[in-house]
Amino acid sequence: MPEADTGKVEKSFYTDVPQQSELFFLKGSNSYDWGMKNRLARIFDATSGKTVMLAFDHGYFQGPTTGLERPDITILPLAPYADALMLTRGILRSVIPPSLNRATVLRASGGPSILKELSNEHIAMDMDDAVRLNACAVATQVFIGGEFETQSVINLTRLIDMGNRVGMPVLGVTAVGKELVRDTKYIRLATRMCAELGAAFVKTYFVPDFETVTAACPVPIVIAGGKKLPELDALQMAYEAINQGAAGVDMGRNIFQSEAPVAMIRAVRKVVHENMRPEQAYEMFLDLKQQRA
Ligand code: R5P
Repeated sequence: MPEADTGKVEKSFYTDVPQQSELFFLKGSNSYDWGMKNRLARIFDATSGKTVMLAFDHGYFQGPTTGLERPDITILPLAPYADALMLTRGILRSVIPPSLNRATVLRASGGPSILKELSNEHIAMDMDDAVRLNACAVATQVFIGGEFETQSVINLTRLIDMGNRVGMPVLGVTAVGKELVRDTKYIRLATRMCAELGAAFVKTYFVPDFETVTAACPVPIVIAGGKKLPELDALQMAYEAINQGAAGVDMGRNIFQSEAPVAMIRAVRKVVHENMRPEQAYEMFLDLKQQRA
């Protein structure tokens, strides 16, 4: 028998307490629908407002990259320390156990290999499949100033339209062609374009005066790690990026090509989520490396 509704006297209606409506914690994201926000909240930590994404999608155009020859062996031990994994659907299905329960950002563009013109990319995944795989976001590259600039921008906007239908955030990645200078003015242009065109967050490279890049971009920016650097330098770059407005890192080679990848991702987490100074995080890295953590 259902309980009879006996009226106001016996119930707690808290008539004097207004219902709270929280502002969503991520920059520029308050107007999204619930599903989009929920996906973003699985990528970004609601307490720190930041994310440590582990990028290992490099194989989609360059095959078995150094450190990614066997992602089952080299990446799986790192996965528990990442807030989100950035990868291809092929590696997700073939290597990542569904029980791992990490947020995923799926590479959704592709086409040319390193043997061809890289800007000639197309959308390379249906949104249905991203939903089927329970992705938290999908990513595509824009090649501003590149040979196929317009095509890559249209890939982004088409993916955003597809994503908006199902509540899937799109990560706009600013790629740099061989002939283009990766300076602050260029990065400001490319990141702002991604945001204006509707990307929910943007991935780019760390450059001087980075605070002008983050200030001019109305949605969160995460930085790519780029080529392998000495660990202290990579931690320093992460620290400076965070303190100049980045919402996290999407780091690959500086983690999985480190001499001690687990120690490195744990040190990166301290910098990103706790604003630990790079020198202290490096000490932690050395201690963990010695313990073979
Ligand atoms: C490159 O195209 C891939 O999308 C990577 O996700 C990206 O470059 C970040 O990786 P890394 O930190 O190694 O630069």
